Amino acid sequence: MTTALITGATAGLGAAFARRLARDGHNLVLVARDERRLSDHATELHDMHGVEVSVLSADLSTDEGIAAVEERLSDRRHPVDLLVNNAGFGNKGGYLDVPVADELTMLKVHCEAVLRLTTAGVRQMRERGRGGVVNVASVAAFLPRGTYGASKAWVVQFTQGAAQDLAGSGVRLLALCPGFVRTEFHQRAGMGTGNIPNWMWLEADRVVDAALKDLARGRTLSVPDPRYKTLIGASKLVPRNLMGRVSSRSGRKYGPTRTSDDD
Ligand SMILES: NC(=O)c1ccc[n+]([C@@H]2O[C@H](COP(=O)([O-])OP(=O)(O)OC[C@H]3O[C@@H](n4cnc5c(N)ncnc54)[C@H](OP(=O)(O)O)[C@@H]3O)[C@@H](O)[C@H]2O)c1
Repeated sequence: MTTALITGATAGLGAAFARRLARDGHNLVLVARDERRLSDHATELHDMHGVEVSVLSADLSTDEGIAAVEERLSDRRHPVDLLVNNAGFGNKGGYLDVPVADELTMLKVHCEAVLRLTTAGVRQMRERGRGGVVNVASVAAFLPRGTYGASKAWVVQFTQGAAQDLAGSGVRLLALCPGFVRTEFHQRAGMGTGNIPNWMWLEADRVVDAALKDLARGRTLSVPDPRYKTLIGASKLVPRNLMGRVSSRSGRKYGPTRTSDDD
C-alpha cells in the first residue's frame, strides 16, 4: 500500500486531494495547523475508506513546522510515495498595502517550505526509484500580479526544473496551476468574490482529478480547464508590460475585491 502526504489538508484543495487519494486506497499523512480539524478529517476518511490516516500538526511558516514535516518525509521505515505541497494563502491588498512581514510569511510557506519538503521527499523517492510530487501553484504564476503570483511563478519554475533534473529517476514532479477554485481561500484572506463570474470558478474535486491524471501521464505542468489553458496561451503571446496592464484591469473587474469591512 502506498502513502501520500498532503499539506494544507484541512480545507479546500488539500481536503479534496485527501478524499480522492483515500478513495483510491492510499494511506495518508495529513498536515496543517488546526489539529482538531485534521483529526476529524482523518477519522472520517479512515471510517469511510479503511485506509490508515495519521495527522501531523505543523505551521509551515515556521522553521520548526517545516522541520517536523521534513523529518516525517525522511523516515525510511515509513516512506512517502506521493507528496502534495498544497498549503497556501493569499494576502489582502496590493504591493505596499501588505506589511513586508506578511509577504515574507507567504514566501516561507509558498517557496521555502515547498523547496525543503520537495527535497526531503524526493531524496527518499529517488533511492527507491519511484514516487511523485504535486506542487500547487496557480494561474497567477503566468500573470505579472503581485507577490502571490511571483511566489507561484517560483513554484512552477522550481518544479519543472527539478522534474527535468530527475528525468529517468522514476520520480515525477508536477506543478498544478488552477484558476479560481471554490475553497476557503478568499474568505480567509478577507477578499470579496462577488464580482467573479460563475464561469471562472472551478470545483476542487475536478481540479484534483485533472492533476492526478496529468501526473500519471508524466506531465510537469497541469492547468485544469480549457478556459484557463487559453488564458495562459494568450498571456505568452502578449508583451509583458501590456499583459500587466490588462491583468490589473481585469483583476479589478473580475478578481477578488476587498470586503466592505476592510480598512
Ligand atoms: N482557491 C483558489 O482560487 C486557488 C487558486 C489557485 C491556487 N490556489 C492554491 O491552492 C492551495 C490550496 O488553497 P485552497 O484554495 O484550498 O485554500 P484553503 O481552503 O484556504 O486551504 C488552505 C489550507 O492550507 C493550510 N495552511 C495555510 N497556512 C498554513 C501554514 N502556515 N502551515 C500549514 N498549513 C497551512 C490550511 O490549514 P490550517 O489553517 O489548518 O493550517 C488549509 O488546510 C494554495 O497553495 C493556494 O495558493 C488556490
